[in-house]
Amino acid sequence: MCGIIGAVLVQGLVAPLIRQSLKRLEYRGYDSSGIATVNAGRIYIKKDKGKIDDIHRRLNFDALPGVIGIGHTRWATHGPPSRQNAHPHIDCSNRIAVVHNGIIENYQELRESLVDRGHILLSETDTEVLPHLIEESLQTTKELVQAVAKILPQIEGSYAIAVLDTSGTALVCARKESPLLLGLGTTGFYCASDVPAFLPMTRKTLVLEDGEIACLTAQGAVLYRLLSTGGLAQLPPRQPTTVQWTLDMAEKGGYPHFMLKEIHEQPRALLDTLRIRKEKLQKFAEEINKHQTVCAVAAGTSYHATLASRYMFSQIAGRFMHSVVASESPEIIDTSLGNDAVIIAVSQSGETIDTLHALKGLKRQGCTILAITNTVDSSITRLADDVLYTQAGPEIGVAATKTFVTQLACLASLSIHLGEITGKQKHREASELFLKLNKIPDLLQSIIRNRESLVKETAQQYVAKPSFFFLGRGISRATAMEGALKIKELAYVHAEGYPAGESKHGPIALVEEGFPVVFVAPNDRTRRFILGNIMEMKSRLAEIITICSSEDERLIELSDRVVAMPPTLSNIFSPIGYVVPLQFLAYYAAIQRGFSPDQPRNLAKAVTVL
Ligand code: F6R
Repeated sequence: MCGIIGAVLVQGLVAPLIRQSLKRLEYRGYDSSGIATVNAGRIYIKKDKGKIDDIHRRLNFDALPGVIGIGHTRWATHGPPSRQNAHPHIDCSNRIAVVHNGIIENYQELRESLVDRGHILLSETDTEVLPHLIEESLQTTKELVQAVAKILPQIEGSYAIAVLDTSGTALVCARKESPLLLGLGTTGFYCASDVPAFLPMTRKTLVLEDGEIACLTAQGAVLYRLLSTGGLAQLPPRQPTTVQWTLDMAEKGGYPHFMLKEIHEQPRALLDTLRIRKEKLQKFAEEINKHQTVCAVAAGTSYHATLASRYMFSQIAGRFMHSVVASESPEIIDTSLGNDAVIIAVSQSGETIDTLHALKGLKRQGCTILAITNTVDSSITRLADDVLYTQAGPEIGVAATKTFVTQLACLASLSIHLGEITGKQKHREASELFLKLNKIPDLLQSIIRNRESLVKETAQQYVAKPSFFFLGRGISRATAMEGALKIKELAYVHAEGYPAGESKHGPIALVEEGFPVVFVAPNDRTRRFILGNIMEMKSRLAEIITICSSEDERLIELSDRVVAMPPTLSNIFSPIGYVVPLQFLAYYAAIQRGFSPDQPRNLAKAVTVL
């Protein structure tokens, strides 16, 4: 998730305006940034690794000349943060500059054929293929907008791009699956990943739809539909909408809190994570398979992701995986594991000291370390032998939400690849599992759309309760534990996440009339046992809140409150969907109890103390 901005001014210098816009997009990524402008037939670029203000102090972005410019703030996906990998990227002849947000899936093939045709590519990014393709296209096409249109049909994956060239009359932007908005001002025209970028300049905005291209000049914006042949069909002018948001609201996408925004971003984050290259996952799975012992190490929510994935590894790949809380690792596995063990280390920040400390010990013992993280260049990446990046984009709310579902998606994909390697899954079965996994972003969208208000009411109903149980069996035990953690950390309510079968061995002693028990109960092979656990709680007059399939009539009938889930959500991947109502529950419980969900007390986004 990067931030892009493009601007065409009627007069004045564009660079200071772009720099300030990038500052307002910095929440989308901040490991490097850059600006390109065009003036008198020449492209000027300043870019580097680091935060915008630091780069500006060193390079002075504001000195770039011209009224047309593009800018980028990067959240690295292909290639580590560096000057070379920072955007904008240019072609061989310095005639075209491009900024891009998204992931070009077939960039490797495109890159190889460009190199074969004599192009020199300087970065490790997927983006750099774009200016070179446009360079070729401009040899046979006069207008920049046509040249861009011509190359786009061959781009697989997602993109929001802004392109300028030395002709210096127009800026072209296009979009497929990554966000891009136009801002229509009186003194300039803009395109950006998000409204805050141009909010101080204009409140009039238009959403560029998938498959549309816009050409911005000092006279305004002309919209086109991209044809599959690479041609263009001009669209009739569209009425802009007027945004009423304050800047603070705009940064949160109109949501009152980052956490709510991030819950809503989950389908997108999942989709991006499911795009991780097959070869990369395959390599990871092969490495895992080489080792006799597989052990996951993580903390907090990331630990819950590993707990869920144990069931995936076992049921899909036939491989047993240990899962150890990072802070306990030195006491239990450091001395017992050696070079026949592979460690799957999961951490959204890549900076959790418990996890790093555990990994250092395990590395000394000779274990192979494979990391799954959301943060490029974080400390965990330097300790690991190989790294997989979840594609959640920066998560600002302290409570992990979208990073959790992307960790699950990553681990689910890995377990399918591993299953093929171990022979537990035939190729056809593995393909079916991938199909099921790829359906989840849409299902998540429908859960978010249809269940938020119901969960909000549920939170209202139970907000005064001092204590909760969250129970689940099998893979749902991890979901239940995550639900309990969320409500504890955000609403400051006591909650226990427990294996449902184990609840009768002690915790049930706490249950009395009206005690709320949340059951996470997909229709998997544990359902007939969970039915018994519900009956045990019911007969002690507990209030039963159940998250189950909308087709599970029996559970619906037994429960006081139900959050129904789509029956098409595959059981083995159910935590990815079933956790969403629990995130909403914690969020709304916090709001109703008067606490800020973005900054829960005593907690930090990256915990760097042992
Ligand atoms: C809970 C939460 C924490 C983190 C934990 C590990 O919502 O965010 O429990 O999951 O501190 O952090 P990472 O994943 O950065 O290692």
